[in-house]
Amino acid sequence: MTPPTSIPAAAPVVLRAQDVWKSYDQGAITVLNGVDFVAGKGETVALCGPSGCGKSTLLHLLGGLDEPDRGLISVNSVEINRHTNPLRLLRYEVGFVFQLHNLIPDLTLQENCLIPTVAAGVPRPTALARLQDLAERTGLGHRLHQRIQKLSGGERQRTALCRALMNKPRILLADEPTGSLDEKTSSVIFNLLLDIVAKEGVTLVMATHDRALAQRCDRLVEMRDGRIHEPQPL
Ligand SMILES: Nc1ncnc2c1ncn2[C@@H]1O[C@H](COP(=O)(O)OP(=O)(O)OP(=O)(O)O)[C@@H](O)[C@H]1O
Ligand SMILES: [Mg+2]
Repeated sequence: MTPPTSIPAAAPVVLRAQDVWKSYDQGAITVLNGVDFVAGKGETVALCGPSGCGKSTLLHLLGGLDEPDRGLISVNSVEINRHTNPLRLLRYEVGFVFQLHNLIPDLTLQENCLIPTVAAGVPRPTALARLQDLAERTGLGHRLHQRIQKLSGGERQRTALCRALMNKPRILLADEPTGSLDEKTSSVIFNLLLDIVAKEGVTLVMATHDRALAQRCDRLVEMRDGRIHEPQPL
């Protein structure tokens, strides 16, 4: 087993994967071959590597959306498995921006963003105030009652970001949060993302193909052949 990638000594570990293995189709496709990974509190980490190397798979496992075949995942030192109720984790501790957004096209921006707050039992006035704040910070204040299908790609991406942040998660897992956008829009959205995570002290792990954005994170880790390789010096 290779040692976990390093983080600044001062930052407590909030996310950990230890010797994590994952395959699909009854073992026909092995995607993760003993991944070791840690992220410290408040750290921003870019996860890079070629298409199909397992970035989304690893993010799903870290967020409790899927289970490893072998190995341990822990969030805030609590091991995540079917006995520790990963749904609870997702509602309160972890926000997830999906690679393909996973927004409901027939619902409005506001309705989409309120869904996780209903699941978490957040009072409606509190949820609406949080949404108002996030929507204004992301330039979506005038779009709250627009259906998702009428929003542009960039607006959808920002909506997905707002939805992931609604319950004030301590950890944000973002899968290509600027994937389908042009360079300029992508940079604007990434700036917003970094600004919000810095102000709220959120730990960010972001899968990205965009090296320029990745370089702006505290750490860049490379996935290759189903494993994590040591961070490159930035
Ligand atoms: N549910 C699944 N069933 C079968 N194979 C899958 C499943 N999910 C992912 N895979 C396969 O696992 C491998 C890793 O997929 P993953 O989505 O994690 O890659 P990725 O690094 O996120 O790629 P990209 O950069 O294109 O988003 C790919 O070969 C993919 O086809
Ligand atoms: Mg992916």
